[in-house]
Amino acid sequence: MQIPRDPVKIGLAITGASGILYGLRVLEELARRQVIVHLTISANAKHIARLELGLDIDLETGRIEGLDNPLYEWIIYHHYTHVGAAPASGSYGMQAVAVVPCSMGTLGRIATGTSESLVGRMADVAMKERRPLILVPRETPYNTIHLQNMLTLSQAGVTILPASPGFYHHPRSIRELTDFIVSRVLQHLGFDGGCLVKGGWGEIDSISTQTHLQSGDDYA
Ligand SMILES: Cc1cc2nc3c(=O)[nH]c(=O)nc-3n(C[C@H](O)[C@H](O)[C@H](O)COP(=O)(O)O)c2cc1C
Repeated sequence: MQIPRDPVKIGLAITGASGILYGLRVLEELARRQVIVHLTISANAKHIARLELGLDIDLETGRIEGLDNPLYEWIIYHHYTHVGAAPASGSYGMQAVAVVPCSMGTLGRIATGTSESLVGRMADVAMKERRPLILVPRETPYNTIHLQNMLTLSQAGVTILPASPGFYHHPRSIRELTDFIVSRVLQHLGFDGGCLVKGGWGEIDSISTQTHLQSGDDYA
């Protein structure tokens, strides 16, 4: 494979909130679009991936069980402790950074600028370089500190994109539900994500909505 001379570079951090599948699907979709993904994964994300998906992530090599081999050509993996890695520098020229999912711990650290791991540093750099930073928090309910941290980040230009999927596209699987959020993340990173969600907002008509509401038992 010939990597273009000036490929698009996106930073992606997967951290230890529930919903690791969101992060893995964003990774897959970016790599499929032949985008260079600078990937880092927190230790807690590894534990949660094992717990909720039953899959192994090797934090030394970045190998993710089940990920298609050809996609690795587009992934540059960095250990989360490696704060000297290329994407930790503003001059490296990353187009955008996403943290998917983003634990409230990581979100709090980003809001206070502690930057002690590569996850925080990539986010910090995106903010200081005025590049898009998208955080996908997953927690419920939010406490006042969470809300204050999100407000601080939003005021700093960060996109807070909670893992709150819609249901109006009539998802029939966890994958379809997940891809609602994945498509929004892709769009905010500057890519077309619409193709992942069939029957989205623009395709709703009142009759089909009514039918689905009446046959709500299907969802039980
Ligand atoms: C099974 C499990 C599920 C968790 N789910 C969440 C969650 O949805 N949101 C969250 O903010 N933290 C969650 N946590 C807590 C975080 O993993 C914890 O705060 C951790 O320190 C985050 O570390 P990281 O941000 O470095 O990945 C969960 C922990 C476990 C063990």
